[in-house]
This record gives sequence, C-alpha cells and structure tokens, in this order.
Amino acid sequence: MTTLLGISGSLRKASTNTKLIRYAAEVFAPDAFVEANIDFQLYNGDVESEEGIPQAVQALSDQIAAADAVIISTPEYNKAISGALKNALDWVSRTEGNPWKDKPLAIMSATAGRAGGERTQFSLRLAMMAFRPRILQGPEVLVAASSEAFNDDGKLKGDMYVKLMKELMGDLKALT
Ligand SMILES: Cc1cc2nc3c(=O)[nH]c(=O)nc-3n(C[C@H](O)[C@H](O)[C@H](O)COP(=O)(O)O)c2cc1C
Repeated sequence: MTTLLGISGSLRKASTNTKLIRYAAEVFAPDAFVEANIDFQLYNGDVESEEGIPQAVQALSDQIAAADAVIISTPEYNKAISGALKNALDWVSRTEGNPWKDKPLAIMSATAGRAGGERTQFSLRLAMMAFRPRILQGPEVLVAASSEAFNDDGKLKGDMYVKLMKELMGDLKALT
C-alpha cells in the first residue's frame, strides 16, 4: 500500500500547481493519493505558546510522516516560493519530531513566466534543506505559461513535460 502526499503551494481553487500535483499523482499511480491543506493562519509564536500547534498543522505533519513519498509543486511569487508554502513549512517545523527526515520528495513548479519557476524551485530546495528529506535532484519539471499548459481533463500538454514527469515520478517511486 503506497501513499503519496501532494502539496500545492497555491491556495487558489483553479491553481495550476494543484493541477500539476494531480497529474503527477496520476503518473505515479499510488494506492492512495492525499492532497494537503496548507491554508493555515500566519505563524505567530504567541499563538503557538498560548494555543499550541493548530489541528490542521498537526494533521499535515502526520500526513507527511505517514506518506511513503511527497510531491510539492510551488508557484513563483517574486522569484521565490509562496508565502503560504513557507508558512506551512515553518509551522510543520514546530511539530514534534521531524516528519521530513529521509522522506522521498520530488519538487516541481508551475508559473505564468517563461522560465517555469527555476528560481522558485531553487528557493524551495534551500527551504527544505534544514529538514533533510531525500529530495530528488531532477529532472526539473518547470511548467511555463501554466494557464495554457493543461488540457480540460487536467492532462499536461507537451511531450517534453510528459516525458520529464514520467522520469521524475519513476525516480520517486524507485526511492520509495
Ligand atoms: C505575488 C505574485 C508574484 C508573482 N511573481 C512571479 C514570478 O516571479 N515569476 C513568475 O513566473 N510568475 C509570477 N507570478 C505569477 C504566477 O506564476 C502565477 O500566478 C501562477 O499561475 C501561480 O500558480 P497557480 O496557478 O498555482 O496559482 C506571480 C504572481 C503573484 C500573485
């Protein structure tokens, strides 16, 4: 029984990063695919000391710990990862233990820009370093002009993207 957890760094209903993790999950074909909710309040040390870890944050931490592999797709906001994603990573880092340790992890990005989020992927790698997951070094799935990159049925257009995604998910599976 393989469980794959997908984290989209965009909160938007029509998010192309959410489409990308769904497509990645289709390619990976796990027994169970879980989509994370990262719509958390902003991290505030006072909230943590007065109220403890929010339930939704603990739920995500538990989902990461329980998953056989994780995929994260991040948008590029001013050349870096979204605030929502960084906030979620910060909150999870405050939970007991480190659910990321040795976790097989693949990252990807979907952006409006032409570079497909090269810089945001780099910033995500830096953000993840502290948690020591087993993060794949490539191939890089960088989906440019993402509003036009998917068919109506959620399939990624373009042979190159499809090939890279197959390779990335194949490597993630091998690591699991
Ligand atoms: C605050 C903000 C900053 C952005 N900065 C960039 C950027 O640096 N590079 C880029 O390619 N797109 C940038 N964009 C456009 C996003 O790539 C685009 O909104 C993308 O579709 C977001 O992903 P989503 O479809 O999953 O929501 C920015 C968008 C916002 C809202």
